[in-house]
Amino acid sequence: MLDIFEIGAAVVFVAIAAEVCFSAIREISRFRVARQRRDLELNVFQAKAETLIQFEQQRREQAAQTWVGKRKFRIIDKAVENASGSICSFQLVPHDGKSIPPFRAGQYLTFVLRVPGRGVVVRCYSISSSPGNRAFYQVSVKKLAPHRDADGQEVPTASGFMHNLAVGDIVDVIAPTGAFALDEISEKPLVLIGGGVGITPLMSMLHQVAEATQIRQTHLFYCARNKDDQIWSRQLQEMAELHPQIHVTMVLSQATDEASTTSRHLSIKTLQEQLGSTNYQFYVCGPSGLMEKIIPGLYDWGVPKADVNYEAFNQDLLKALRSRLQESQGAACGVRFSRSAQLLNWQEGDGTVLELAEAGNIKIPVGCRAGNCGTCVTTLKEGRVEYLRPPGFKPETGTCLACVAFPVGDIVVDA
Ligand SMILES: Cc1cc2nc3c(=O)[nH]c(=O)nc-3n(C[C@H](O)[C@H](O)[C@H](O)COP(=O)(O)OP(=O)(O)OC[C@H]3O[C@@H](n4cnc5c(N)ncnc54)[C@H](O)[C@@H]3O)c2cc1C
Ligand code: FES
Repeated sequence: MLDIFEIGAAVVFVAIAAEVCFSAIREISRFRVARQRRDLELNVFQAKAETLIQFEQQRREQAAQTWVGKRKFRIIDKAVENASGSICSFQLVPHDGKSIPPFRAGQYLTFVLRVPGRGVVVRCYSISSSPGNRAFYQVSVKKLAPHRDADGQEVPTASGFMHNLAVGDIVDVIAPTGAFALDEISEKPLVLIGGGVGITPLMSMLHQVAEATQIRQTHLFYCARNKDDQIWSRQLQEMAELHPQIHVTMVLSQATDEASTTSRHLSIKTLQEQLGSTNYQFYVCGPSGLMEKIIPGLYDWGVPKADVNYEAFNQDLLKALRSRLQESQGAACGVRFSRSAQLLNWQEGDGTVLELAEAGNIKIPVGCRAGNCGTCVTTLKEGRVEYLRPPGFKPETGTCLACVAFPVGDIVVDA
């Protein structure tokens, strides 16, 4: 029989033993948690390092494999993308049979097209396929109606010409370029806002997000007039179902079917409600109405300028955006076109040096009108110009790209 002291001693002993056991278990689990955290950090670090190495390799490859000037590409597939038939995709491979150089999601190709009834026309089309797809480049083109010149003659559009091309046809293409490229290194979540055919560069970005090892939350807002105009809607829904990090919101401004009776335009309020914070990298590409509303709206909401990336498909938009985004208006100045012996006054709202020249009937050779092909390079004899964003084509010192250049004070150009 144990006496009361022995029972007390046994209880104390058991309590101490239990405490020792518990603290040993606590220590072990603390150690396990610390090890798991360290392993996790190591994995994250390794994934980041792999991503960095992969992108560095890709940049080097792009630099090494890119081509200068025009290169012949063959159309290997053509597909109408929407019910209205307004947008057609083309898959292209180099005619010389060599591999295609890599590109960054969001970049575009520049086409030099011989359009019957119009001559040589240079146009840019964003690559809509994945940067991971090394079998072909895909571009998706919206057909615009021909217009009439001053004599009432019909002027065909380059996009209309593209729509008439067939599998097997050859086109001249300038290498992928463009600053509207996805920042693949950043871990910040993404917001992609596309309107109409402006979805094309964003589709390439979305492919990249879906294929990346690194999980990056991504919200796509895709604005179209109606379902007939929309492209890739099933593909987008499938991407969202397959990849939990991808969230797709369709915004129809003229919904026609019964299932989606609410017609609306995308607003900053919708973005605020759905996103909850400004802590995203934004990529915006769409028609003037959308861009002129959304981009200044994002700034007003407090999104840092460095996090707002956008691509303007036409020059009018560039002029309108500059007027909205400039903190101060450009000072009125004189632009002297020395070869034509004309001095024209420029003020904010007159647009680029090219637009001023055209208004004065001064001829400057023109291609893409977007700062990408170099056709409009003009010698800048005196003064300084600025660009809303760095142009895709880098003009040499002492020259400017008239199609995207705005004068900063009096200038003299050789045109
Ligand atoms: C970086 C970049 C990427 C792009 N990516 C894409 C893309 O992925 N997909 C895409 O479809 N487009 C894209 N574009 C736009 C594309 O490059 C062309 O601008 C577009 O296809 C229109 O060219 P076009 O020759 O067909 O029409 P244009 O002849 O340039 O005419 C454009 C419109 O203006 C009207 N117009 C022109 N001149 C007159 C006039 N004198 N009087 C009355 N009307 C007139 C035409 O009827 C037409 O509706 C991109 C542009 C840039 C800069
Ligand atoms: S026209 Fe292409 S860069 Fe100006």
